Amino acid sequence: MKKSKLVMPVLKWVGGKRQLLPEIKKYMPTISKNITYYEPFVGGGAVLFDMQPNKAVINDVNHDLIDVYRVIKDNVEDLITELKKEKYANTSEAFYQIRELDRKPNEFNKLTGVQKAARILYLNKTCYNGLYRVNSVGEFNSPFGRYKNPNIINDVGLRAVSKYFNDNNITFLSGDFESALKGIKKGSVVYFDPPYAPISKTSNFTGYNESGFGLDEQTRLRNLCDKLTEKGVHILLSNSDCEMIRTLYSDESKYKIIQVKAKRTINSVASSRGEISEVLITNNV
Ligand SMILES: C[S@@+](CC[C@H](N)C(=O)[O-])C[C@H]1O[C@@H](n2cnc3c(N)ncnc32)[C@H](O)[C@@H]1O
Repeated sequence: MKKSKLVMPVLKWVGGKRQLLPEIKKYMPTISKNITYYEPFVGGGAVLFDMQPNKAVINDVNHDLIDVYRVIKDNVEDLITELKKEKYANTSEAFYQIRELDRKPNEFNKLTGVQKAARILYLNKTCYNGLYRVNSVGEFNSPFGRYKNPNIINDVGLRAVSKYFNDNNITFLSGDFESALKGIKKGSVVYFDPPYAPISKTSNFTGYNESGFGLDEQTRLRNLCDKLTEKGVHILLSNSDCEMIRTLYSDESKYKIIQVKAKRTINSVASSRGEISEVLITNNV
């Protein structure tokens, strides 16, 4: 199937990979037609939507996010119709009314899947920095962004992504990264984009969900990479350029570490915006 240029992220996501794409593509193993591509930390899906594989398994621990993708696949026209309703206006009043819904379980539970997906897309486009952030009890807590003209409806992008999902063999999962790879076969390709290891104490930022992703999780991921390497699965992984990651992947008989430069676009600390060093890691398969 020919790639569509209209297929691109519909959500702004922490750690979005759009500007690193040229480097990622350089080191991405070839995904031939019968190969399954896995993205266990799919987030906004910049890499998936650029590669547009015919066969893919995508996963994220964030259920709300994966539910948005499911609705885009199955119900895109209803979703667009919903987003056109007046209640999704770009005003502070409308924003807080929609944001507050997850604090009222009675009302929230009555929402349809389409309404829940519209809410996430709307909040993502109108909240401060496009940051999906929830507090310890899972309530969306980013403030209103005051953007002049956010593209809340994005019907062209939503339809293109829906068509891509429907024309190809895409499996959606919302669990832990390890379970997303159960039964993976030799020759498959996996791109891992986990929450990054902190480069310094002050950048210890884990705004993805309620649970952090610390050394234990990075080690669990490396152990999984070891198993996949033994199995003959091709992997590409991105992470921050720091001692923890360089140590975890120091076995040169298995891994190659490539340094790349990236611009941070979403960061909780404005002063640390700018060029930073990241790594791409491939295995010798
Ligand atoms: C760096 S982001 C991915 C960014 C994505 N590549 C993009 O271009 O937008 C990491 C993602 O990992 C997810 N995540 C965190 N812990 C996870 C886990 N244990 N299993 C699966 N996904 C997890 C987060 O919800 C987040 O969406």
